[in-house]
Amino acid sequence: MSSGWSNLVLKNFDQAASTYNGQARLQRAVAWRLAKHCAKHQIPEGLWVDLGSGTGHIANALETCMPQRQVLRVDGCSEMLTLHHRHRPSQLWDLNLGLPPLPQPPSLLVSSFALHWLSNPQARLKEWLAALAPGGWMALALPVHGSFPQWHHAAAAAGVTCSAMPLPSQSSLLEVLPPDCIRYQQLHRFTQKSAEVFSLLRPMRQMGAHSSPYPAMGISKWRRLKQAWPSHQESGVAELTWLIQLLLIQR
Ligand SMILES: C[S@@+](CC[C@H](N)C(=O)[O-])C[C@H]1O[C@@H](n2cnc3c(N)ncnc32)[C@H](O)[C@@H]1O
Repeated sequence: MSSGWSNLVLKNFDQAASTYNGQARLQRAVAWRLAKHCAKHQIPEGLWVDLGSGTGHIANALETCMPQRQVLRVDGCSEMLTLHHRHRPSQLWDLNLGLPPLPQPPSLLVSSFALHWLSNPQARLKEWLAALAPGGWMALALPVHGSFPQWHHAAAAAGVTCSAMPLPSQSSLLEVLPPDCIRYQQLHRFTQKSAEVFSLLRPMRQMGAHSSPYPAMGISKWRRLKQAWPSHQESGVAELTWLIQLLLIQR
């Protein structure tokens, strides 16, 4: 995807920075889960970096689990970085340009809910792995292809485009990682429920996570999408399922 895409993604996150934390319950829970997996391993001291840190969910969780460590927060949105603790190191950087200049090879790179927003997740993943110090670790969490089956089903049934962000497949991520480097990998399924279809989708906009490569839909198409949402009409409960890939890799 183009630099126009990257600008759109960053602009939407910038504009939603002040409402991000209030909506990002899933992101916070996943960040904690990933940080606890990291804490089970002897990750060497050195430079620890959170790529696409947003407001710092995983950086904060890592520093809470391992209080002697400090994490450099990197993000392309200045508004997100202003929400970090004043004394925490941070760097404004567009990760589509590659990694920022770092003072030493990192011994830990973490990234949660960010890699899928980058233009070429496979290329970034290869780059991040190659940048690690020998014996260094990478911890990743991101939604993958197969997420939002209800949304895709409703769009097909209603004859409208599913405007959900296209996501990388689990296999496309695993194919660029040497199998003997993978220390943990798990696909987690989280299902959000609501009495109202748009209550499932609205938080994405309030978090700035609504960028889509597809044209905006008019209100009548949104109504058709809502009508076609699986089982909502019968049970009164709408669901939205996320598939989240967790990965721990050691170089
Ligand atoms: C969904 S948020 C996740 C934030 C945080 N890691 C969390 O788990 O809450 C995605 C983050 O990726 C950042 N991001 C997206 N594209 C980026 C890019 N090209 N360069 C740097 N950061 C980017 C956004 O600014 C945003 O803060």
